[in-house]
Amino acid sequence: MIISSAADYRGAARRRLPRFLFDYVDGGAGSEATLARNMSDLATLPIRQRVLKNVAEVALGTTLFGREQALPVVLAPVGLTGMYARRGEVQAARAAQSRGVPFCLSTVSVCALEEVAPAIPDPIWFQLYVIRDRGFMRDLLARAKAQGVTTLVFTVDMPVPGSRYRDAHSGMSGPNAALRRLLQAMAHPRWAWDVGVRGRPHILGNIAPVLGKTSGLEDFMGWLGANFDPAIEWKDLDWIRDNWDGALVIKGILDPEDARAAVTLGADGIVVSNHGGRQLDGALSSIRALPAVAEAVDGRLTVLADSGVRSGLDVVRMLASGADGVLLGRAWVYALAAGGERGVATLLDLIAKEMRVTMALAGVTRIADLDRAILDRR
Ligand code: FNR
Repeated sequence: MIISSAADYRGAARRRLPRFLFDYVDGGAGSEATLARNMSDLATLPIRQRVLKNVAEVALGTTLFGREQALPVVLAPVGLTGMYARRGEVQAARAAQSRGVPFCLSTVSVCALEEVAPAIPDPIWFQLYVIRDRGFMRDLLARAKAQGVTTLVFTVDMPVPGSRYRDAHSGMSGPNAALRRLLQAMAHPRWAWDVGVRGRPHILGNIAPVLGKTSGLEDFMGWLGANFDPAIEWKDLDWIRDNWDGALVIKGILDPEDARAAVTLGADGIVVSNHGGRQLDGALSSIRALPAVAEAVDGRLTVLADSGVRSGLDVVRMLASGADGVLLGRAWVYALAAGGERGVATLLDLIAKEMRVTMALAGVTRIADLDRAILDRR
């Protein structure tokens, strides 16, 4: 298997995984138009080619929420990644640690906070969904605090789950889903042995206390539907601000008006995101939404961005368009499925290398100098 890009990891993941798992990570909402635009709008954003600017030393380091990191990149919260590799969240956190970037654990991870956080010396980030039971949310915040989490990512773009048509066809949901998943697993024996058998227990570690014994995959969608709170409003977020004294990042902002509301709330950061095209099909791509959002917050909080990033070149495009840091979603999950911890570490090396080359050819040597001036407006 020759790996030279995130696209190669996607191909390898497709071969390795049962179809329901590949389609779950690869797919988006509705016709997948926003999913496609996330990538095509990035791909068509031109960068100015500059020459003779002494690019012998290109530095990629930056600081996010008071902590230095080697790259302006974060591994995005992605649910169920313990189904993609054995104890997948632990492997990915170790890879992130080894390359000097933060790992963000999803609410709906397989491995619990208490399994992942102690596996690495640096603090992990934790992502929280809006859950009806505020007592349970308070417990989760206390657990995160006890595990040394410094940065809370509060995801607000999922008051209801998006319409994911692929899942019904793949066996993730729909008729005879359990039987279809079993047959797919049997057709992928390496995955079945490594993850299906040796990667147990397959529970949603963080929410197992409320789900009890039956916190398996079967209950995942049911739990999401029953426990996500569509009644949440901006004023409810004051409660979070009052119950969390670490850095607070609001994830899922695409509109300048919402970005200003995050500033008013006193958030430390936002993630400009359409959830990787998995929620509102028809929404603007993140890269197109980003400049106006960054302008609206005008430096009053840290602007992170994601959705569609598949290379170091894409990271540079996001930074040039107003982001201070970039989350990788599917890219790291493909690498995890294909190569475990080593796969994710190699992916981060590839991203760093691509960033270095891009910056050198654009005549820029520091992350702080990546701004709209490097974009070609002709
Ligand atoms: C996600 N995302 C996500 N976000 C979040 O806040 N909590 C979660 O549990 C999940 N789960 C999840 C599962 C899968 C399979 C995917 C692909 C994505 C969204 C994620 O954090 C990020 O916003 C997107 O993945 C970014 O888009 P790209 O990089 O995947 O195109």
